[in-house]
Amino acid sequence: MKIKNIGIIGAGTMGSGIAQVASTAGCTVKLFDLDQEALDKAKAGLEKIMSRLVEKGRIDSEEKNRIEGNISYVNSLKELANSDMTIEAIVENLEIKKKVFQELEGYVSDACIIASNTSSLSIASIASSLEKPERCVGIHFFNPAPLMKLVEVIPAIQTSAAVLKISEETIRSWKKVVAVAKDTPGFIVNRVARPFYGEALRIYEEGIADFATIDHAMKTVGGFRMGPFELMDFIGNDVNYTVTETVFEAFYYDPRYKPAFTQKRFAEAGYLGRKSGRGYYNYAEGAVKPEPLKDGNLLESIKDRIIIMLINEAADTLFLNIASAEDIDNAMTKGVNYPKGLLAWADEKGIDWCVTEMDNLYDLYHEDRYRCSPLLRSMKKEHKNFF
Ligand code: NAI
Repeated sequence: MKIKNIGIIGAGTMGSGIAQVASTAGCTVKLFDLDQEALDKAKAGLEKIMSRLVEKGRIDSEEKNRIEGNISYVNSLKELANSDMTIEAIVENLEIKKKVFQELEGYVSDACIIASNTSSLSIASIASSLEKPERCVGIHFFNPAPLMKLVEVIPAIQTSAAVLKISEETIRSWKKVVAVAKDTPGFIVNRVARPFYGEALRIYEEGIADFATIDHAMKTVGGFRMGPFELMDFIGNDVNYTVTETVFEAFYYDPRYKPAFTQKRFAEAGYLGRKSGRGYYNYAEGAVKPEPLKDGNLLESIKDRIIIMLINEAADTLFLNIASAEDIDNAMTKGVNYPKGLLAWADEKGIDWCVTEMDNLYDLYHEDRYRCSPLLRSMKKEHKNFF
């Protein structure tokens, strides 16, 4: 089955980005939103991006016209009737999504795949609103959708094998890297990435180092493009805190995902990050960025502690069959630009090292947060590597 007609529901940040990806790949796209202003903004935004690409010589004006011409902006859901696949990117609210899906199912053909771009809701719960839940699948893009290579594809327990296969093929034909994930909280990226923020906050709360030093450690010895505090300021402390809290609740309050008071207070104070002019750092004009401590041993130990917590989470994600080792590593390098896949990183550091680091943390704290993944432990015994 060739997927050619794409319906996109919600013309906000994600919906408009996904529309650009699909139209660039040659699909005919109908972008629907209830809000005419959102549609106008999406159209103007796309034209601006296309003009910039022409200026930079990345596409010619013919290509610009083709991409723009592939998208029509509609304000009635009925217009999506001839879609082969629809991708929903509206507000993150289960009841609203369910209502839209039920209405949509009344218009589209039986063969139409109905996908959601949700970050935090279960695909099973969304699919349950449909008469044919087997046609429902999670197709989770990263922001900005046209630039980020990764797309997580998430089959619900109801999803048919054929729908999963066609969805994967379609997204690959849009030149994206697919990582298939089980329908569990945070899927791959939003789960595995939690310690990048959480352990950095914990290190700060213990008074081991300040924001600037922790960021410096992750960027210099860690090789990350941004430090955790810079990244939280970029994402927004309100948004990042909510994701952490949602994942924590969804995992039945597993202490491994426990949010940090520090971030909660920053969010409560309105210190949201770049968008509010102040977060962990001050973004006012002329503000001086604090200098990190340049103590080599300290930087190494900060980096190692955050990395081992990330590796441990990635190992458990594999242990619990959420995704394959390849997909877990691809997800972190292509979805959030990590310098290396975490499982490859574990191989490089040595599985013995990983187990020792986790056990040292556990010995010190006796907190469940620091329990070593059983997979790492059994791999150590069997002298195995991930790759
Ligand atoms: P947004 O707020 O930028 O856009 C949502 C759009 O949906 C708005 O234009 C709004 O008018 C429209 N909308 C709301 N209710 C509607 C309805 N009943 N019918 C039609 N249109 C409706 O939101 P954003 O950030 O694009 O997020 C959309 C979805 O994508 C959410 O489920 C979110 O969790 C998910 N997501 C967001 C990411 C992000 O970084 N912003 C990343 C990956 C997924």
